[in-house]
Amino acid sequence: MSTQSTKQELKAALKASHAWWSDMGVDIPAPLPNKPLAATKRNPQATTPQTTPQTNITAKPTEVDISKQLEKAAEQAKAAPTLEALKTVIEAFDAGVLSDHARNIVFARGNPNADIMVIGEAPGRTEDETGKPFVGPAGQLLDKMFAAINLDEASLYITNVCNWRPPENRNPNDGELALCAPFITRHMELIAPKLVVIVGGISLQALTGKAGIMKARGRWQELTIGGEQIPAMPLYHPAFLLRRPELKKDAWRDLLAIKERLKDI
Ligand code: URA
Repeated sequence: MSTQSTKQELKAALKASHAWWSDMGVDIPAPLPNKPLAATKRNPQATTPQTTPQTNITAKPTEVDISKQLEKAAEQAKAAPTLEALKTVIEAFDAGVLSDHARNIVFARGNPNADIMVIGEAPGRTEDETGKPFVGPAGQLLDKMFAAINLDEASLYITNVCNWRPPENRNPNDGELALCAPFITRHMELIAPKLVVIVGGISLQALTGKAGIMKARGRWQELTIGGEQIPAMPLYHPAFLLRRPELKKDAWRDLLAIKERLKDI
């Protein structure tokens, strides 16, 4: 048996074991070995920052293979001519601990011809199991929020800045977001939305480089998508609203601003 196929079998066995523990309700804390993808505080020897195309995310790769993966992500995403091709690229992509731990990639749901693109953070457990974004409790609230302004899946296209559920349900870190950046950049180009809804602080940071959803929510931003300036409204993440229901009134105001803006589109 070749070293390559032994490696793949080992990887599959580890993935199956993670899935089993996950079914038992246990999140596996340790990343798989030899997957130094993320540039985080855990990688104190981080070196030269690299900026990914059309985003404001700065990655600090610590090893040569990480910067190679960043290059590969950028090349492959750019070359994807269709949504289907982009999905295939992401499915086959080695995103280190992200792809090793995830059961499925989470690509999108909704209408690819919609004017409105909704971009969240990263998949949770239900999304990881189903391969669809925003289908757990937070997603149900998000659907209700849009329903309140008469928008449903036929008028929305929904995705995330990160296509894999991070281990332990943690937030994706800067290195991981940098790796995912070419994919969301190409995803936005292929959808070519007229309006973007940025859901949550991680997506705000990933798409605009701005920190602080508390301050940015309700304030129109601009994203450059395929050379066009596209209006983007940051919203509180519905998972946050489930914990802080008193803030729903702000979210309602932001939804009304979106409804108003849609009249010009
Ligand atoms: N939170 C997100 O940001 N995206 C999902 O798909 C699910 C939960």
